[in-house]
Amino acid sequence: MRAVILVGGKATRLLPLTVNIPKAIIPVLNTPFLEHVIRHLSRHRIKDIILAQGHLAQPIQGYLGDGRQFGVKLSYVVEDTPRGTAGAVKNAASYLDDTFLVLNGDVFTDLDITAMIDFHRERKAKATIALAVVDDPTAYGLIKTDAEGRVSRFLEKPGREEVLQRRTNMINAGTYILEPDVLALIPPQQEVSIERETFQQLLARGEAMYAYSSPAYWLDMGTPEKYLQLHRDLLSGKCRHYGLNPGKGVLLGEHTDIHPTTQIKGPVIIGNNCSIGRRVQLIGPVVIGDGSTILEDSVIEDSVIWRNARLGPRVTLKNSIVADNCCLNESSSCLGSVLGDNVAVLSGCKLEPGSKIWPGEAVG
Ligand code: GDD
Ligand code: MG
Repeated sequence: MRAVILVGGKATRLLPLTVNIPKAIIPVLNTPFLEHVIRHLSRHRIKDIILAQGHLAQPIQGYLGDGRQFGVKLSYVVEDTPRGTAGAVKNAASYLDDTFLVLNGDVFTDLDITAMIDFHRERKAKATIALAVVDDPTAYGLIKTDAEGRVSRFLEKPGREEVLQRRTNMINAGTYILEPDVLALIPPQQEVSIERETFQQLLARGEAMYAYSSPAYWLDMGTPEKYLQLHRDLLSGKCRHYGLNPGKGVLLGEHTDIHPTTQIKGPVIIGNNCSIGRRVQLIGPVVIGDGSTILEDSVIEDSVIWRNARLGPRVTLKNSIVADNCCLNESSSCLGSVLGDNVAVLSGCKLEPGSKIWPGEAVG
């Protein structure tokens, strides 16, 4: 079975992390996000994958290439103007002549895709939508089903009133199995939303549209808060195939030096070619990217640092995300902050929670 991954969105909610790099390849546990998704598909024997691209297509192609290094075959279709979530699938129609899978390109899940395919086939469904349960459905597609699991309503981004009325917190998890004749419902060369148009049409026509619920781990990492939450969850083992021993678990890359006076409370991942100085405290969950240097007496807690960072001495970093090539100078502190690429935080500067610093800025 082939899969289409939607990776053409603008990722505005993840700014300033996504100014120069698309959401689909921002690092998660020091590995580009899509690599996790591709490995998950491959575990379920889905090895023919089409990436539906738009915004920032080149960095994804440059990193993933033809997919050989991951044991899959990757193809790319690129929209000249954004086609929306259904238009993007239509754009890949020449690859889709049999039952196929569609994935939102920002969802981290250990969903049992094989079981979902069986479910779809047993019911002879036209479309099957994976479900997730969330506390606040207002940012998602709310789904109502009948007793047999058939979808009876699909409300994209409902208001709070509607959520209360419908008395459900089951949402569209952004993974679909579709029959190829669904493509005939999507007009070509136009922006079309699968949530607001195609699924509504399927419902109106009374087509067999099913919802597949499962206890899988699920998170849409589309905001900085969710991105940090994803790291907390993965490091504490909430998702199959991931997790380090809380309190103790430490994963070290190659050629990384840790001073004997460093205090580490896991779970912590440190990449390759890093240097962690005297009396540094790392209080997990913490992830540090390749080529980063943390100088003496710095304290890092509940944070994700990308590649080639230079922090310290005496820097405090908490509940924050630091993108590539940032420099946090002596005695500066960042709490609940998001730093884009190549940011310099000058000596003694204190960034308050909610700070977002754009790439290349120097803040003092
Ligand atoms: N190729 C292409 N072209 N991809 C697109 C486009 C487009 O025009 N617009 C969005 N995408 C991609 C995004 O890159 C992302 O991977 C995926 O489609 C979903 O877009 P988001 O912008 O992340 O949507 P959302 O999170 O607000 O809502 C969607 O996902 C929720 C689950 O995470 C909806 O499908 C909701 O119904 C769903 O609950
Ligand atoms: Mg999303």
